[in-house]
Amino acid sequence: MPDPFYVTTPIYYVNARPHLGHAYTTIVADVVCRFNTMRQSESFLLTGTDEHGDKVVRAAKKENLSPKKYADNISGLFRHLWPELNIKYSHFIRTTDPSHMAVVESFLKKIYDAGDIYYSKYSGLYCFGCERFYTERELVEGKCPDHETEPETIEESNYFFKMSRYQDWLIDHINTHPDFIRPERYKNEVLSFLREPLEDLSISRPKSRLEWGITLPFDKDHVTYVWFDALLNYISALEYPDGDLFKKFWPFVQHIVAKDILKPHAIYWPIMLKAAGIPVYKHLNVSGYWNVNQSKMSKSLGNVIEPLELKNIYGLDALRFFLMREMVFGLDSNFSEDALVHRINSDLANDLGNLFSRVLAMAHKYFKGVVPSVDQKVEKQLKLSLETSACHAINQYEAAMESFAFHNAIAAIWKLISHMNKYIDSTEPWVLAKEKTAKSQLEIVIYNLLEGLRIAAGLIYPIMPETADTMTKHLGIQIEPGKSPSWYHVETLKKWGSLEPGTHLPKSITLFPRIDLSQVKSDLPKDTTPVIDLKSEITIDDMNKIDLRVATVLSAEVIPKAKKLLKLTVDVGEKNERTIVAGIAESYHPDELVGRQVIVVANLKPAKLMGVISSGMLLAAVDGNKSVIVTLDKKVNPGAPLR
Ligand code: MSP
Repeated sequence: MPDPFYVTTPIYYVNARPHLGHAYTTIVADVVCRFNTMRQSESFLLTGTDEHGDKVVRAAKKENLSPKKYADNISGLFRHLWPELNIKYSHFIRTTDPSHMAVVESFLKKIYDAGDIYYSKYSGLYCFGCERFYTERELVEGKCPDHETEPETIEESNYFFKMSRYQDWLIDHINTHPDFIRPERYKNEVLSFLREPLEDLSISRPKSRLEWGITLPFDKDHVTYVWFDALLNYISALEYPDGDLFKKFWPFVQHIVAKDILKPHAIYWPIMLKAAGIPVYKHLNVSGYWNVNQSKMSKSLGNVIEPLELKNIYGLDALRFFLMREMVFGLDSNFSEDALVHRINSDLANDLGNLFSRVLAMAHKYFKGVVPSVDQKVEKQLKLSLETSACHAINQYEAAMESFAFHNAIAAIWKLISHMNKYIDSTEPWVLAKEKTAKSQLEIVIYNLLEGLRIAAGLIYPIMPETADTMTKHLGIQIEPGKSPSWYHVETLKKWGSLEPGTHLPKSITLFPRIDLSQVKSDLPKDTTPVIDLKSEITIDDMNKIDLRVATVLSAEVIPKAKKLLKLTVDVGEKNERTIVAGIAESYHPDELVGRQVIVVANLKPAKLMGVISSGMLLAAVDGNKSVIVTLDKKVNPGAPLR
């Protein structure tokens, strides 16, 4: 039996409604969980809400509600959203659950008794938005990098967790477990943070300032710091310490977060676990942000995208597909409706949808909607099998899914789809259908295409479960409700020839209709990123034809009557100097240029400009009316080539 699989999302704050960013992380968790079900792992997906702390108290006050009533409302929005997005969570945890609160208390007591907690006065810079203290060097121009507000200096007596004691252990653990934090850029970020001495963590708040939290078991005048409380959800949900779920799933845990909460997950959490003698997690998977018009989605910027609005307009599977295909896990991505529609039309309607209806239409036309049987001897002779291509796709897909490279996993499926489209063009079933002697060849071609579709349906299952089921049903496979995953087990997918000849195929349907964006009426924020109109693509051979050289400007002068042009005499490392005319007179005074090193296109055919012959072209960036010349970081010999 394969190992069990346990995946968590962050537990979301209840101070705002769920948006596309939260939906993305939770869909990723669902996708990896479904993928592990395909590998027959027993899987557990945990999500929930983070309900204590200042933020919630302030948000509740605004609505004139008690923190608990307010948390009930927003937590309900999250809990009810996930099934709408076809996310199958195993447990939804709330930090106000009595069972969670009991675990927080016993955990605190355990590390307090072990001597890892002490009481002390502290003065520091506190961001109320993040609910944490910041060090000077973490601020950007004196402001919290996430909320762009100046933190407040607060002084209070608090309990501290001796994180510093575990700094060397953590550095060593990260170094000896290279994919503990992935992708690598985030591991490097954490290691670079750990180069400075780690400060101890304040883990309590006096009740005089904040009452909405879990009372410390060893001091009733303090509540637990919200992060210390929240992180423990990952074990309390499994009934730590003695629960069967904890024993079964904890050794296989992987967390998913975005980069905003890297530090608590990569530093506080492993140290908390270590201090309590609990094995640390296997992987911390860190995503970038979904931005809208290059800014992170936020209520205050008014650019929040509601996942249900997208689902209602474009359909759930199209949305799930877009999120998984468009974002490279770990990097930021800009959300735009144009990009979504483009993906639906090209990848889903065109590539996948067309292939699906084309193959089924042929099966109906040539075999009255019955899966044909295959003459093995003929198949071998004809070498018409798509089997190898499907096998490659499955292997690439599995490796990509394991490493959270979802865009690559999808690319592997689409390679198979494109191969199948080419297969149709090269085998020309419509020609085979006309020749009586080619019947067994036609049977093989159509059978292979149906098999290819069966495998494609299985591979898209974690990302687009409804579409996978629809495709499978149209391949004549009866799926018992709720039982579909067994049909998608990777082992079953790998068994070429699983479709039973003789099976009746229902009539084909359109999987994804094309969308005309101009007909769509949505209130979503429009993408205002300027469109860059790139010139048509060139090859490396085209590029190699351009001879770029470093030139030193020897003299520069204005050209009478030419407002925009300067005449430059440059040294390009040749025997003779050259004259180059450049359109930079409105941005540079001739004296500024003498002695500077610039870049020129040295093999451009000479041309006469305002009576002066220019032998080359100077490179400059054009920004509106301004030109800015391209220069070098260090001095080099004139004539040095650029590569
Ligand atoms: N309550 C804490 C987490 C505690 S976990 C022990 C918290 N909550 S949050 O509501 O702010 O959620 C943050 C998480 O939501 C991010 O880490 C990410 O998973 C998801 N996202 C929120 N906005 C996002 C984007 N714009 N883009 C991608 N993910 C985003 O932090």
